Amino acid sequence: MPRAPFNPRVSIVTGGASGIGRAIAAELVARGSHVVVADLDGDRATRAATELTAAGPGVAEPATVDVSSFEQVRDLVDRTEADRGPVDVMVNNAGIALGGLLEELDERHWDRALAVNLGGVVNGVRAVYPHMSARRGGHILNTASLAGLIPAPAMLPYTTTKHAVVGLSTGLRAEAAALGIGVTVLCPGFVDTPLLDEVYEAPPSIAGGSVRQAVRLMQPKFLSAETVAARAVRGLERNQAVVPVGVLAHLLWRLNRWAPPAARGLCRVQARVHRSRVHA
Ligand SMILES: NC(=O)c1ccc[n+]([C@@H]2O[C@H](COP(=O)([O-])OP(=O)(O)OC[C@H]3O[C@@H](n4cnc5c(N)ncnc54)[C@H](O)[C@@H]3O)[C@@H](O)[C@H]2O)c1
Repeated sequence: MPRAPFNPRVSIVTGGASGIGRAIAAELVARGSHVVVADLDGDRATRAATELTAAGPGVAEPATVDVSSFEQVRDLVDRTEADRGPVDVMVNNAGIALGGLLEELDERHWDRALAVNLGGVVNGVRAVYPHMSARRGGHILNTASLAGLIPAPAMLPYTTTKHAVVGLSTGLRAEAAALGIGVTVLCPGFVDTPLLDEVYEAPPSIAGGSVRQAVRLMQPKFLSAETVAARAVRGLERNQAVVPVGVLAHLLWRLNRWAPPAARGLCRVQARVHRSRVHA
């Protein structure tokens, strides 16, 4: 049976002012959607929305939101439903980078990772779910990471939250199917965005707060945000459960399922390399 064209009327993208979120917003605007570009950085959201609207044929509007606040996310969703109509697609994408060995990290790293990378997704899901379930339709896209599919050392607050986002998404998918709601989780390898250079409260082993050079050892060529967004929206269109993006993500995800000892060995090497930097 031919698939119906995927043209969501109203969408919300958190973390939509930059990187992957901005590129997903651009894909949705290109499909004619009215997209709310929601971000902590309101000025950047306004600039992104203006540029995306100029590209059309859809429209983008900016919104300032801190996804770690349930009240703010609920207000954003309720306002959008009231002003623009049913939210067809909710993209819970906002996130921050964290890195370093466990002994270098303190409660600031854990609290922030849990509040933004996990709490932000939980808040987005909880805010939109009552609307989508009442009308028995809609699609939720959560951005996790390759770090949500494999044991990723030297960034445990990040790895922990991304595994949780995968668990939340795949579990919810099973529950939500009966209500006509699709749930997809996006798991890209390393992507060329500002996030790689903005490690939160970077510890000594993350020189200059950037992981760009270090991760090149694992993935010499970064993915573009546009490639990831195109795969994400195709995943939405096909109602895929998990969307890994990039050769590294596909390889390591498979290795971890088919030969877990090999995957664990590889991660031990990665941890050892990182530790050698601390003591260099
Ligand atoms: N860049 C990568 O290599 C990579 C790989 C896999 C997954 N991801 C994930 O993709 C998502 C987007 O990251 P990106 O690479 O596009 O980064 P980015 O830094 O380009 O964009 C992230 C956006 O999220 C916003 N944001 C941060 N905290 C927020 C908060 N509390 N409330 C609202 N907005 C907030 C930022 O202002 C920014 O605009 C993140 O969840 C990240 O973990 C990134």
